[in-house]
Amino acid sequence: MLTMSPLRLEGVRAVVTGASRGLGRVIAEGYVREGATVVATARALAHLDAVTRGCDGAPGTLVRTVALELEDPDSVAAAAVACRAALGRIDVLVNNAGILGRRTSLLETAPNELTRAFAVNVVGPLGLVSGMMDGFADGAVIINVSSGAAGRAGWGAYGLSKAALNVMTAMLGEELRGRRVRCVAINPGGMRTEMRRAAYPSEDPQTVPHPRSVVEPFLAIAAGADAGDVVEARAWTS
Ligand SMILES: NC(=O)c1ccc[n+]([C@@H]2O[C@H](COP(=O)([O-])OP(=O)(O)OC[C@H]3O[C@@H](n4cnc5c(N)ncnc54)[C@H](OP(=O)(O)O)[C@@H]3O)[C@@H](O)[C@H]2O)c1
Repeated sequence: MLTMSPLRLEGVRAVVTGASRGLGRVIAEGYVREGATVVATARALAHLDAVTRGCDGAPGTLVRTVALELEDPDSVAAAAVACRAALGRIDVLVNNAGILGRRTSLLETAPNELTRAFAVNVVGPLGLVSGMMDGFADGAVIINVSSGAAGRAGWGAYGLSKAALNVMTAMLGEELRGRRVRCVAINPGGMRTEMRRAAYPSEDPQTVPHPRSVVEPFLAIAAGADAGDVVEARAWTS
């Protein structure tokens, strides 16, 4: 007799930022498929129509969509409140939303490019954590989406901001240990998304893996799997 495999994220309440497309959409839909209750964000609610349709009929619930502009501290604070109100308790926060900016050397990177990349890729995600602090469940996990470009020459504001995100993950991990909130940074590796197309305009997208190929560690860690501070998605085995 066939037995149904149990849903891995039944009862889990999660927030996924940047869920309108690319990796974030795949994570949000994967969480709902595994039974989670999810809040999805993007800069405008209309951007979230596709993920809303993608979650239709799945065992979990896309309970709310929330507009979040990570460059705007007021929007970050309001989104944190909205997520807490929608979920009550937060088990998983996936800080996935991010921007690339210009691929160039640091010396050629303009101050406003650095300011913008840090606002969206570091300061905004940290603000979300702060705003959700009272809502995190015992044993909650914060997953920050990093990049192999972190700290790499030629990746300008993006590389510097993702390196800062990795450091932020380690610092928060220590600071939140007493609260029993875990922090993990995942480098998903190259994926066929709008961001990748902007980074490698002459590449054939069909040669790059779909974001679905790296969703497993996001599911497993949300379900309680152990992980170090920084996870390489393509090396994930358990
Ligand atoms: N693609 C790759 O090869 C690759 C490789 C390594 C790491 N990553 C990382 O993976 C994550 C997802 O990347 P992706 O390739 O899926 O990117 P993407 O296709 O460009 O999607 C980016 C997402 O972030 C949201 N976003 C952009 N700017 C925002 C802002 N200012 N405030 C709030 N939300 C904003 C977008 O929402 P809107 O609908 O509002 O635009 C969208 O949902 C990023 O952190 C990226 O750095 C990607």
